[in-house]
Amino acid sequence: MSLRLGDTAPNFKAVTTVGEIDFYDYTEGSWVVLFSHPADYTPVCTTELGRTAQLKDEFDKRNVKVLAVSVDPIDDHKGWVNDINETQQTEVNFPLIADEDRKVSELYDMIHPNASATATVRSVFIIGPDRAVKLMITYPASTGRNFQEILRVIDSLQLTANYSVATPADWTHGEDVVVSPAIATEDIPAKFPKGHKVIKPYLRTTPQPNI
Ligand code: BEZ
Repeated sequence: MSLRLGDTAPNFKAVTTVGEIDFYDYTEGSWVVLFSHPADYTPVCTTELGRTAQLKDEFDKRNVKVLAVSVDPIDDHKGWVNDINETQQTEVNFPLIADEDRKVSELYDMIHPNASATATVRSVFIIGPDRAVKLMITYPASTGRNFQEILRVIDSLQLTANYSVATPADWTHGEDVVVSPAIATEDIPAKFPKGHKVIKPYLRTTPQPNI
């Protein structure tokens, strides 16, 4: 059965470009972005993995470990990393999982047979330090992902984890957030001393609490 939000992300052992890893050990205490790509030595994937490497400081700042996965063999991964580094002016700094036996792809339902019988689609899983699946997005092979959006969702998830807030449509870092419906309006001033607005009894906003 495929994973759903809130499910525990399953553990696995895998061969990667940084050696064999146990997923739980490698990601202990961190947020995780686990994302699949269709194939090595392909143009869109080359730009995606390059962009991910360029964003290392942004992922580190948020305590996020990133892992990429495809069903290509480890030697292909290692050769392709040189091309990514050269063409995207970066240094790939996260593990690429060589999932030749499709163990990880099947655990995370990353092969969608009606799209491709053999290649993983562009899945993204964001997993919390509690190992719960917090987000799943699936893109087609022909569309490169927007990594600013992935960072934006991580920011939103971390705000929700640390404060009783949610983020409205098109929210970006620095904008007002929405107070959780679980908080009574009379309790807002104590919890959110920066101020708040009551637009409707169910729609209350407050400045982003962690800036
Ligand atoms: C790519 O990464 O460029 C790609 C991979 C599979 C199908 C289409 C594009």
